[in-house]
Amino acid sequence: MKTCVLSLLLLLTASFTSAFYLPGVAPTSYKAGDTIPLLVNHITPSMKKEDTDSKTYLYSYDYYFRRFHFCQPVDGPEKQSESLGSIIFGDRIFNSPFNIKMLENSTCNQLCSASYTKTDAVFVNRNIRAGFMHNWLIDGLPVAKDTMDMKTQTSFYSSGFNLGYVDEDNVPHLYNHYTLIIEYHERVEGTFRVVGVTVNPESINHGENPSCDSETTEPVNLDQTKESVVTFTYSVYFVPSNTVWATRWDKYLHVYDPKIQWFSLVNFSIIVIFLSIMMSHILVRTLKNDIKKYNEINLDDDVIDEMGWKLVYGDVFRPPKNPMILSVLVGSGFQLLVMAITTCGFALFGLLSPSNRGSLSTVMLILYAVYGSVGSFVSAYIYKFFQGEDFKTNMFLSPILVPGCLFTLFIFFNFFLIYANSSGAVPVGTMFAIVLIWFVISVPLSCIGSLLAYKRPTLTLPVKVNQIPRQIPPQPWYLKTQYMCLIAGIFPFGAIAIEMYFIYNSLWFNRIYYMFGFLFFCLVLMLITTLLVSLLLIYYTLCNENYKWQWKSFFVGGGVSIYIFMHSIFLSKFKLGGLTSVVLYVGYSLIISCGIGMLCGTVGFLGVLFFVLNIYGQIKVD
Ligand SMILES: *[C@@H]1O[C@H](CO)[C@@H](O)[C@H](O)[C@H]1NC(C)=O
Repeated sequence: MKTCVLSLLLLLTASFTSAFYLPGVAPTSYKAGDTIPLLVNHITPSMKKEDTDSKTYLYSYDYYFRRFHFCQPVDGPEKQSESLGSIIFGDRIFNSPFNIKMLENSTCNQLCSASYTKTDAVFVNRNIRAGFMHNWLIDGLPVAKDTMDMKTQTSFYSSGFNLGYVDEDNVPHLYNHYTLIIEYHERVEGTFRVVGVTVNPESINHGENPSCDSETTEPVNLDQTKESVVTFTYSVYFVPSNTVWATRWDKYLHVYDPKIQWFSLVNFSIIVIFLSIMMSHILVRTLKNDIKKYNEINLDDDVIDEMGWKLVYGDVFRPPKNPMILSVLVGSGFQLLVMAITTCGFALFGLLSPSNRGSLSTVMLILYAVYGSVGSFVSAYIYKFFQGEDFKTNMFLSPILVPGCLFTLFIFFNFFLIYANSSGAVPVGTMFAIVLIWFVISVPLSCIGSLLAYKRPTLTLPVKVNQIPRQIPPQPWYLKTQYMCLIAGIFPFGAIAIEMYFIYNSLWFNRIYYMFGFLFFCLVLMLITTLLVSLLLIYYTLCNENYKWQWKSFFVGGGVSIYIFMHSIFLSKFKLGGLTSVVLYVGYSLIISCGIGMLCGTVGFLGVLFFVLNIYGQIKVD
C-alpha cells in the first residue's frame, strides 16, 4: 500500500514537472530575415552598496508602468503566458515594439518619443539612483551586459542592465539608446541560432533629428522642474560566434570567486566531520558504559539512584504539553525537508536549468503540495505516539496550519505591494490557482497520509510510563530551553551562513541561482550538525533527570532560526527605501528563518526520538 502511494506520488510529481518543464527547452532556429521577438520583463531593484546614500528598494515594477513612459507596441502590450512559479516569483513578461530580424544590422531605429511630467521625472530619477534594472529576453536569453570580473580577470554576462546612470556631479541620466549585439551560431547552412545577447545602453539627447552618436551629443537629463521629452532609439548588430546552443548559458552563470566559497566550505566541513566523529565516538562509548553499568548492577538499588538518564525511564515517554501543535509542526517540517532535498536533487541533475523560467519555483510549489501527504503522515503518526485522541483535529490542522499562515502573510504583503504600485503583487487569478492546487492536490493527499498513519500500529514503547510524574530537580541555567537554543543554533548556522547571501540575492534582486551542488552540500552539513548538537544537548538534559525532551529537542534543533533572523536584520548591507521594502524584508526574513527553523527542529526532534527509543530499549527495567 505504502509503496503504491509512493510510486503514485512520484508519477504525479514527474508528470507535473515535465508538464511545466518541457516548453522552452527546444532550440529555435531562425532563417535570415526571420523576426526575433524581444520580450520585456519586470523592472527589478538591485543591491546598493553601503557607501552610497541612495536607498535600496525590494519590489519591482511592470515594464509598462505608466510613469516610466517606455515605448509600447502599436496594439498595446500583450502579456505572455508564464508558469505559475514564475508568476508567483514576480516575472511579468510582455511583448515590445522592437523590430529585430535575423542577420539584419540596423542603426538608430526610432521607437517613440515620450514626455515626462515633473512628478514622473522625480519617480524615474529616484529609480535610476536606486539602481533599478531592465530585464529583457531575446530567444529565452536575458539581455546582459558584458562585464569583467576584476578578481579572476574573466569576462562574463551579467543579466539585466540599469535604467540609467548617475554621473560625477550626482545627476541621473536615463538610458534611451540601446545598442543590442546578438551573437548567432550557424548550425546548418542557412539556419541560425541565438547564442548570446548583450546590450550597450547610452543616454543621448537626440533633439530634432536622432543621430545616435553619443560622442557629439549631451546625455538626457529628466528635468524635475519642467516637462521634458525623450526619444528612444536602438541599434542591432549581429555577430557570428563559436558558442553552440547547448552551452550558451555558461557565460551567464558566472560564479563570483568560486575559490573562496569552496575554500571556506571545505574548511568548515572538515571541522564538522572531525567534531561529529569525535562526538559520536564519545557519545556511543559513554552510552555503552552507561548501559553496561545499568544492566550489571541492576540489583543494587542504592547505586542506581545516583545515576543519570536511567532514572527517568518511567517518564521519558510521557506525552508533552500541546502534543497537537508539536506533531503538526514536526509534520510540516518534514514536508519542507523532503521538498528541499528533492528540489536540490532535481536541480543537481540539471533538471531545473535557468533556461526554463520559473521551473525551479514551480517544481518547489508542486512538490510542497504533493508532499503534504508525507507531512500529514508524520504528523498523525507522531500524534498517535503522543497518545493524542483528537485525531480529526490533527488531520484538519496538518495541511491547514502552516500553509494557511503562509498564505495569510502572502495576502498581507500583497496589500503593501499594491500600495507601492509594484508588479510583484500577485494577481487574483494566480491566488485562486494557488488555493485550487492546495485544496485539490494538497488537502486530499494529506488526508490520505493521515489515514495511512492512523491505520498503522503505534510505536511500541520500550518502557512503561509511570502513573505519577517524577519530580524534576532544579536545572542548571544552561539547560534552560532558551539558552540551549542559543548554544545549539550557532553550529548549523555556520553551515548555512555563506549560502544566505546568495539566497537573498536571488530572492530580492532577481539573480539567477544555480549553485545547487553547493547548496546541497550546505544543507547536508546543516542537518548533520543540527542532529548531533540536539542529541548531545538532550542527552545532557536526560542525565540531569529532566525528561521533557519533546518540545526541547524541537526548539534546540530550530535554534538556528534565531541566528538566521538576526543575521538578516542586523547584518543587511543596505538602507531600505519605503515602508513596503521594510515590511517585505522583515516579513520574508521571518518566513525564511521560521521555515529553516521548523525544518531543523524536525530533524532534531526525530533524531532525538530515535535516540531515546534506542537507548531506553537497551536497558533492563523491572
Ligand atoms: C553587422 O555588424 C557587425 C558588427 O559591426 C559586423 O561584424 C557584421 O559584418 C555586420 N553584418 C552585416 C550583414 O552587415
